Amino acid sequence: MTEASKVYPPSKEFADNANATIEMYQRAEADPDEFWAEQARRLDWAKPFEQVLDWSNAPFAKWFVGGELNVAVNCVDRHVAAGKGDRVAIHWIGEPIDDTRDITYSQLKDEVSRAANYLASIGLVAGDRVAIYMPMVPEAVIAMLACARLGLTHSVVFAGFSAAALRSRVDDAEAKVVITTDGQFRRGKPAPLKEAVDEALGTGDDAAPSVEKVIVVRRTNHDANLNWVHGRDVWWEDTVAEQSPEHTPEAFDAEHPLFLLYTSGTTGKPKGIVHSSGGYLTQAAYTFHNVFDHKEGRDVFWCTADIGWVTGHTYITYAPLANGATQVIYEGTPNSPDEHRHFQIIEKYGVTTYYTAPTMIRTFMKWGREIPDAHDLSSLRLLGSVGEPINPEAWRWYYDVIGANRCPIVDTWWQTETGGHMIAPLPGAIATKPGSAMRPLPGISASIVDDKGNSVPDGEQGYLVLDRPWPGMLRGIWGDPERFKETYWSRFAEQGWYFAGDGARYDEDGALWVLGRVDDVMNVSGHRISTSEVESALVAHAAVAEAAVVGAADETTGQGIVAFVILMEHATPGDELVAELRQQVSVDISPIAKPREINIVPELPKTRSGKIMRRLLKDIAEGRELGDTSTLVDPTVFEAIRAKKN
Ligand code: WT7
Repeated sequence: MTEASKVYPPSKEFADNANATIEMYQRAEADPDEFWAEQARRLDWAKPFEQVLDWSNAPFAKWFVGGELNVAVNCVDRHVAAGKGDRVAIHWIGEPIDDTRDITYSQLKDEVSRAANYLASIGLVAGDRVAIYMPMVPEAVIAMLACARLGLTHSVVFAGFSAAALRSRVDDAEAKVVITTDGQFRRGKPAPLKEAVDEALGTGDDAAPSVEKVIVVRRTNHDANLNWVHGRDVWWEDTVAEQSPEHTPEAFDAEHPLFLLYTSGTTGKPKGIVHSSGGYLTQAAYTFHNVFDHKEGRDVFWCTADIGWVTGHTYITYAPLANGATQVIYEGTPNSPDEHRHFQIIEKYGVTTYYTAPTMIRTFMKWGREIPDAHDLSSLRLLGSVGEPINPEAWRWYYDVIGANRCPIVDTWWQTETGGHMIAPLPGAIATKPGSAMRPLPGISASIVDDKGNSVPDGEQGYLVLDRPWPGMLRGIWGDPERFKETYWSRFAEQGWYFAGDGARYDEDGALWVLGRVDDVMNVSGHRISTSEVESALVAHAAVAEAAVVGAADETTGQGIVAFVILMEHATPGDELVAELRQQVSVDISPIAKPREINIVPELPKTRSGKIMRRLLKDIAEGRELGDTSTLVDPTVFEAIRAKKN
């Protein structure tokens, strides 16, 4: 048997006690609507739905038509009402050692109610947008839930994004309020954050027109008073904390927009992915129960993502709380104060379910197994992976070193747009294979097809499409229905399929392997960055005439960003300029988008129609022989590029 086809069946004990059963696949296939209705009943509905799916105006879906619910009540109040108020919802662990807080469901209810009361008191009404630009503090989750409670649509912007990125998102969503902190801890050091908000929102003629209030949580004791705008800026502790912990919730339509989350596409402008209330929460709750085999009152769940990404939205805020789970939320970096931190947390809190990204696992591998081996990790019983394909070597290390050959690994394929897990093994019900996400979850239908939409034979690569709607699917791109149709539904318009942007193949055993993006989107440490976004940032520098960016294979981060730039006549090439260009990208987008490598070249390879041949640049960046160059205007450009590549 080859390594690639080796299967890892679950232990008998795991299988006997698993939430999921093999029979779910058939049941869901036999009657998808009934299956999803059953999943939706995991939630408390203030008004029951009358129809499961209305697809008559495809690709604009309506799920659980006529139903009404309050998402925050489902995540918080109902657990308190069921007598579970004393259960810890969040073990919050700050980056500074011993800076911790345990928050029970009752306490969470009070905090969310206070925040909701304040947001209502300043005149916000259902449908208004609120931007949340915060590090991993409990108030970030509280703010999201307070929005949900009032029917406000939140837009969380990753606190590692630049002021410019925040501004464009605030403007696009026309957010009325920004919630932030004075500063954030990063690698043991406090850094300012409110300053970035001030810079983003501007003043006078340049002021962000939609923003009325900025609410600031005190975290690092940075002097946020420096640029305090009276009338606009308030401290959380002077406003939210002063409110009553009683708040009477209202129910909202199942389709009410719960949040926007901006993500990179193939063009420069990030798009605001719109998610619903009822369908989104159904998929979140269903997948958490089955894919993570969640056992209420027993498990301690930990998802290491940041709330600025969809993984944090779904598997930190909404899914664990909808299921009444106890979870760990960690504020800091994995090597603060040293590389033992994650393992100490697992040991101390008895984490049972650990969900991280392949890039993290490869980093642990680099640090060496002595580090996890120094800890008692026997509380773990299930491991998860998300964000990019996991290479079999990292999978096996994760299985052996972290999971002690005992814990099933769920490799979960999904996207910002899908809202929750789509392709993943049901642990206990099916065996797993290192590197494969195995098969679509019950209720989900995916195919692998060629350009014309014909299924490709097993073993061959094709495009991954989702050929049936699902409850957690995005409902649109904020303010741009045409772009929504064009981006996701135009490639296989005739069939009405959603094109995910990934390539995939089925192997001889029918296991699905996701192979990564087939469009101009890069995946760096599980973060999605578009080539054109980085190119625009580079071209914005006065010294740059033209830029082309590719994602090149990288041992640790999955892909690394490699840029090729042509300079203006007057510019002076050199290390100084390269450093400036990297800085430019960092300021324009985020430090995570900084190119690993910038090559100053005399020319770029172009087709006759003037399109840059990124595929060939990728060959160069990855040190491969060049692919087909026959469509190039001038194949000799490569000699010049190779000569200049540092
Ligand atoms: C893209 C979506 C879903 C949360 C994190 C990223 C890649 C994600 C896997 C996986 C192979 C994966 C895909 C996808 N991806 N998970 N388990 N195996 N690839 O969300 O930023 O929306 O990115 O991440 O390429 O299209 P995102």
